[in-house]
Amino acid sequence: MADPFSFHPEPELIGFRDPAVSRSQLEELGRRTWEAALDWLYGEGMRRPIAADGYREARRRFFGTPSEPAPAPAQPSSSKDVLEEFRARIAPGVFSAHHPGSFSYFTPPPLPMSIAGEVLAQWVNQGVDVWAAGPVGAFVEEEVTAWLRDLVGIGREGWGVLTSGGVMANIMALTVARDVHLARLLGGSRPPRGSALERARVYTSDQAHFSIERGLSVLGFPPESLRIVASDERFRLHGEPVERAIAEDRAAGLLPFAICAVAGSTNTGSVDLVGELADLARREDLWLHVDAAYGGAVRLSERDAARVPDLERADSVTIDPHKWFFQAYDIGALVVRRREHLLRTFHRAPEYYRHPDPEESPLNWMAYSIEGTRRFRALKLWLSWKHLGTEGLGRLIEHNDDLAAYLARRCRELGDFEVRPPEPELSVVCFRHLAPGVRDLDAHQDRVQRALERSGVGWVSTTTLRGRTYLRAGVVNYLSTEADVDRVLDTLRRLSLEVAS
Ligand SMILES: Cc1ncc(COP(=O)(O)O)c(C=O)c1O
Repeated sequence: MADPFSFHPEPELIGFRDPAVSRSQLEELGRRTWEAALDWLYGEGMRRPIAADGYREARRRFFGTPSEPAPAPAQPSSSKDVLEEFRARIAPGVFSAHHPGSFSYFTPPPLPMSIAGEVLAQWVNQGVDVWAAGPVGAFVEEEVTAWLRDLVGIGREGWGVLTSGGVMANIMALTVARDVHLARLLGGSRPPRGSALERARVYTSDQAHFSIERGLSVLGFPPESLRIVASDERFRLHGEPVERAIAEDRAAGLLPFAICAVAGSTNTGSVDLVGELADLARREDLWLHVDAAYGGAVRLSERDAARVPDLERADSVTIDPHKWFFQAYDIGALVVRRREHLLRTFHRAPEYYRHPDPEESPLNWMAYSIEGTRRFRALKLWLSWKHLGTEGLGRLIEHNDDLAAYLARRCRELGDFEVRPPEPELSVVCFRHLAPGVRDLDAHQDRVQRALERSGVGWVSTTTLRGRTYLRAGVVNYLSTEADVDRVLDTLRRLSLEVAS
């Protein structure tokens, strides 16, 4: 029989079953791949957070002219050439969360042990949906989600499932709330669909993540199902205004059924008053979902855990390890008070997922999720949690909280910044430079942000708070120090005066 791999310049990297032929070649591929990563990290990655190019230039640099995707490669190349292309075309254009001046969205530098876990997970390539496709993968996910459940404080009747991220976890939580809780309130024998959703109402704040609205929309709820309640001056949702909204809606013949709180909002890191909302949810018989995608991680720190209290009182909680657990993308999670609620919502039994011994009923993760085949996401978190321990992860969180407090304090001391809110709730700081003589301070912040980006000294995003533009620093970088914060602030002030003149 003809050698099916002879078409390729490196047949041993495709037909690799014989270690005598392939092992040293695979080791060499691994070495060269790791080397390409470290050359990027200690080269461009530590030099600047992002290339100076704007969007159009970046497109042109990657695609060439015309700036459109090239056709698929018909012919093979050597791994050396392909890695060379990574170095030449990809590495210079990536965003570096590792740069100590990177204070980005919620994009931390992944822990090296998490990256190691990704490499191992890809080699063993477990399909964690049906038990036989990822047997030990199923157990590692069971263990790591039990750790997350303990962190949230939901007991052994609860359950956790890994997701692609916070959006998926929020959508799954709303699906459970609809099919379990709203179904019960409506008293029908089937999960509600179509016109049965019309009277239902969900309460959230003006700081909720967009996925709450998107989730309701994809689940078939009409737009008016979401009632947005104003947050306070620290961007937190209280129980009382929600209680008033519920009373109004009940008087109008509507059916309140869920509250979606956020514990660590994307904009400012604000934490809703979950305890008050939990009391209200119990009194009014509403489902309480808490989106702690970012903020839930603070409970890793004994010192700072009280900043996100009362999660254990929720019916469902989103918690996203690829945010503040410093994990490589992607890994999110949903934790629910009752395992049975996930099963009732998502369980399906296709004929090809049979098991001859129903007594054994193996753990099939596809029964707990919208997703089917899922990567072995648990491994990187399992390895890096063991590597650092809860205490070690907590120290990194505390370092970020302290650095955010330092940034806010320096802004206040310098006197030409406005910080909002003045004290960060967790590790997000929103601030703006009050350049003297500038009339349009909103447009000015955008110019300052872009100037910082071009400088290569640091990176912050921008956001809108109560109609005004702010710079937003998400301090989730454990490699940064106070000196890096000072450098970014000094540069921002200098650039602000430059772009103002
Ligand atoms: C509070 C909150 N919830 C949900 C999400 C969505 O998470 P993901 O982008 O991982 O799907 C984010 C993302 O930043 C977030 O900040």
